[in-house]
Amino acid sequence: MEPIMKMGIDAGGTLIKIAYRAAESEEVMEYIHFPSPQIREAASWIKQHAPEAKVCITGGKAALLQSCLSQHDVSTIVEFDATCRGVQYLLQDVEGAPEAFVLTNCGTGTSIHYADTNKHYRLGGSGVGGGSLIGLSYLLTGIGDYNEIIQTAKKGNREHVDLKVSHIYEGAVPPIPGDLTASNFGNVRTDGSSTRDIADLLASVMGLVGETVTTASVLAAGQCGVSSIVYIGSSFVSNELLQDIVVGYTKLRGAEAVFLENGSYSGAIGAWLSL
Ligand SMILES: Nc1ncnc2c1ncn2[C@@H]1O[C@H](COP(=O)(O)OP(=O)(O)OP(=O)(O)O)[C@@H](O)[C@H]1O
Ligand SMILES: [Mg+2]
Repeated sequence: MEPIMKMGIDAGGTLIKIAYRAAESEEVMEYIHFPSPQIREAASWIKQHAPEAKVCITGGKAALLQSCLSQHDVSTIVEFDATCRGVQYLLQDVEGAPEAFVLTNCGTGTSIHYADTNKHYRLGGSGVGGGSLIGLSYLLTGIGDYNEIIQTAKKGNREHVDLKVSHIYEGAVPPIPGDLTASNFGNVRTDGSSTRDIADLLASVMGLVGETVTTASVLAAGQCGVSSIVYIGSSFVSNELLQDIVVGYTKLRGAEAVFLENGSYSGAIGAWLSL
């Protein structure tokens, strides 16, 4: 078996994402991730599977992971450069891919960028992201496992928790679509009679995160005069509900949402490409 020669790693606040090719002759990328608190396990896996590989690391925990890989030839790369490079790489496989777009990375937190074929720069961000999804879900329901959160949220109904514009206008014609959320969690009554249904609460957390991230992204897109928003980040992994909320709300606001297969590995791919 050929040894693995290159490894690109995005060591983020929540997950360490790794991209590599099983052999130099292979075209396809392989992917694996570890929870960031298990950084030692990640380092052991790299030492075991790619003892000779050149490694390029990006992300907030790059220096920490580098310190665990003293036997390796390790370089680091600026997170936003790596992420944008990885996104451009993945966009090659997308038919009708946009040339200029807003890039929204919904990781632990959310970072929003402008990108085209020549340049990219950061527009801003929001502390509301995948970390909020887990933190709020846990505080409200006691469920802290990501997969359990996303599976349970699918069964929920936001009607009892969120206040829609049509709820406020009560039969009158609203000036904006009545289906829009007027207030996330705004339909909760404080007399104790409100829903305590775990699925409803988790669905509403998903709505809060998805709509906040989308609102910031469409405003950013308007500011730069583009209509496509590429959404990446592990918060969308296996999470159709969050994707649906983001797609629907982006469309309603007159923009187009693009999701990339393996988009959560963009930073790791960009790091790999820089080797
Ligand atoms: N297996 C998993 N375990 C925990 N969280 C997961 C998992 N899969 C997806 N997630 C979601 O993805 C989020 C992390 O996304 P991502 O990996 O893009 O962030 P990060 O790169 O670690 O963070 P940042 O870029 O903000 O430093 C989590 O907050 C959670 O909502
Ligand atoms: Mg990240």
